[in-house]
Amino acid sequence: MITRAQFLSLLGTSISGLLLSPGKLFADRNAEALAAKLFGSNFIWGAATGAYQIEGAFNVDGKGLSIWDDFSHTKRKIKDRSDGDVSCDFYHKYREDLALLKSLNFGAFRFSIAWSRILPEGPGTINRKGIDFYNQIIDTCLELGIEPWICLYHWDLPQTLEEKGGWANREVVNWFSEYSRICTLHFGDRVKNWMVLNEPLSFTSLGYLAGIHAPGYKSINKFLASVHHAALCQSAGGRIIRENVKQANIGTTFSCSWIDVKKSKPKFHKASERLDALINRLFIEPVLGLGYPTDTLPFLKKMEKFIQPGDLEKLKFDFDFIGLQNYFRIIGKPSLIPFIRAKNDKPDYNDVQFTDMGWEVYPEGIFKILQRFAKYPVKEFMISENGAAFYDNVTGENVHDPMRVQYFQQYLSQILKAKQNGIPVNGYFAWTFIDNFEWAEGYKMRYGIVYNDIQNQKRIVKDSGLWFQSFLSQ
Ligand code: GCO
Repeated sequence: MITRAQFLSLLGTSISGLLLSPGKLFADRNAEALAAKLFGSNFIWGAATGAYQIEGAFNVDGKGLSIWDDFSHTKRKIKDRSDGDVSCDFYHKYREDLALLKSLNFGAFRFSIAWSRILPEGPGTINRKGIDFYNQIIDTCLELGIEPWICLYHWDLPQTLEEKGGWANREVVNWFSEYSRICTLHFGDRVKNWMVLNEPLSFTSLGYLAGIHAPGYKSINKFLASVHHAALCQSAGGRIIRENVKQANIGTTFSCSWIDVKKSKPKFHKASERLDALINRLFIEPVLGLGYPTDTLPFLKKMEKFIQPGDLEKLKFDFDFIGLQNYFRIIGKPSLIPFIRAKNDKPDYNDVQFTDMGWEVYPEGIFKILQRFAKYPVKEFMISENGAAFYDNVTGENVHDPMRVQYFQQYLSQILKAKQNGIPVNGYFAWTFIDNFEWAEGYKMRYGIVYNDIQNQKRIVKDSGLWFQSFLSQ
């Protein structure tokens, strides 16, 4: 079975046009000069999480099942056969965890709401205990002086809605609108920062085309339908937040990667352009009124059957910020893979570092991707996720993770460079706060700045967490 890392690599992310530049991978001269104050006093420093990945308590206090509960329990597609039933048990440990986050000097906490905790059956009765839980998260953040940043959807659709067709059913726009309305009305008095969707390309492609994430379909039709419906929800969610939350700061997030070209030949450039269209353009361009990138990706024309009169207008929304999530770059070359006819190739040189996910460490990519997106009329960017999975060793009460420390330093240097070049990037959310359930990879991939042992729920702040603590204190 192909893994998520391999699939994403096949697809790639970001811009095209440049030739692969050799060398200069792991030595960033700017890292030493890095200081939080250089980013400005209004820069947002946060850590990011997703509900299914950390909460556990999958059937507690009236929560309904989500597609990830079903997928992990029944489909045997999680590498270590694990699930999110307990995960970090954040549902019960949130107070101490948020206090820990505060002690690391972060000012913002990004979390998502589990739709099926709020609406266990999809539309219908609101689960009061679900509302109470998120009220407690929000209030605890505010008491501690941490700004809560809500993401409405981080991949855990209620299973009852999947049984009605899920993202491939246009009704999802109504279901999602109702859910967004409920969240904004209950939490909007205290939460000003909202993200609508987490990486729509990932949950539509991995869940409906590649079959490696929930709900596990391999269907081009379901994929294309879900893309259009997710894009409609993206803007509909934005409008609902605008309507219900005073002074809201509204964004949504996109996975993205810089795309290089393996060889300077027209066929290679074209292949990279197709990857760029799929990975970087597909969800942002409709928001900006540019429609879908059918010019570069003719197979997207098959989506027309799902598009109704007036939809192109509905896809637009004036977001206050765009959240970019960057993990790796792509080196495009032609291939026989259907529809996209392009794939990712390995870098040519030897001194390349890869994370445990097999993703190349390429800090310049985040600078280049910011430059590429800055060509769009976007008001403000947040790096809403960035981080690395590396194997961690516990030695006594310590976890020394020098590679992760270096990773953060190098990526942050590149973000600072973007800022100094006039790109309006105003926040950074490290992925992730605590080691957690990494989707089809299970618990083996550790991304946290805090180590967690899921057997005993013991947290240990890693050196990377301590690095942030000291970095953010200056
Ligand atoms: C995503 C998600 C996160 C992942 C992270 C590491 O971008 O895939 O938002 O849930 O855990 O990206 O793979």
